[in-house]
Amino acid sequence: MNTTSASRAEAGTEIGAQTGAQALPSRRIIDAPTRAFHWLMALSFAGAYITAEGERWRLVHVTLGYTVIGLLVFRVLWGLLGPRQVRLSVWAGKLRGVKAFVQTLKAGRVNFQAGQNLLQTLAIVALLALLVFTSGSGYSVYQELTGEWMEDVHEVLGNAALAIVGLHLVMVAAGSLLRRQNLALTMVTGRTPGRGPDLVKKNRAPLAALLLACVLAGWVWQWQNAPSAAGLAAWPDAAATQSRSHADSDD
Ligand code: HEM
Ligand code: HEM
Repeated sequence: MNTTSASRAEAGTEIGAQTGAQALPSRRIIDAPTRAFHWLMALSFAGAYITAEGERWRLVHVTLGYTVIGLLVFRVLWGLLGPRQVRLSVWAGKLRGVKAFVQTLKAGRVNFQAGQNLLQTLAIVALLALLVFTSGSGYSVYQELTGEWMEDVHEVLGNAALAIVGLHLVMVAAGSLLRRQNLALTMVTGRTPGRGPDLVKKNRAPLAALLLACVLAGWVWQWQNAPSAAGLAAWPDAAATQSRSHADSDD
């Protein structure tokens, strides 16, 4: 057992050495499903936000909003059933460090890395929680489950989520500067520079592929079914016409 993980770890380091810039050794710290989740979430959120205003892109907005809901469900299941490193309890553990951090502040010592780590975890957890309510309120507006006031609630929540994404990105930049390494790249490759065994032994690429396939299947399904559901008989044609005239009419 030990030998297997040791040889895998070595293999991981070697691969990192071959593919990394300047042949530096690296170790895997984020698995493929978590990375796939992250970039699908970033893409869906950005897309939903950009297409939020007006009727024209409503179906795209709603589709990406549903994608956010699906991804949230995935992350909660992954955080309950997945390996130790992706468990929701990791975030809870980090957040429990607030007290100790405040005490070091009171003692007059400032640990910037610990502060960044804490604030980033706070931003991530708050963002995920907020996205539950943002997409839930959007669903309620779309299905007309509540009064018009929910439109305002949904808009405020969407903008609050954007503000926290801003904090998240500032923390990515701050963390990268403090650690002198590109954390955004780590979220792409899953690897961090350094020697030693992979902290995440299995990449679980098939699960990442399955997540991507589910998202793509959802988009195709929505594309084929949404027009009739929304009463837009020729929606794909209409969407094509709209995108052609987008540049003219966009103000
Ligand atoms: C170019 C844009 C982005 C970059 C470079 C980026 C980068 C990162 C990095 C480096 C982490 C790891 C943080 C850590 O644990 O220390 C992370 C985590 C995370 N980010 Fe982003 N992010 C971006 C956009 C977004 C957006 C738009 C969202 C959501 C709307 C988002 C949601 C998350 C979540 C939920 C996590 C936790 C991932 C997990 O462990 O499951 N990110 N991001
Ligand atoms: C991450 C997820 C989401 C974000 C960030 C988001 C953001 C927004 C924002 C900012 C607006 C206001 C646009 C404006 O009038 O200026 C809006 C409107 C709207 N959203 Fe979302 N939304 C999300 C998810 C959803 C979902 C899941 C649905 C439906 C299933 C939805 C349905 C709608 C509808 C119907 C409107 C128009 C409301 C009105 O008539 O004023 N949204 N969204």
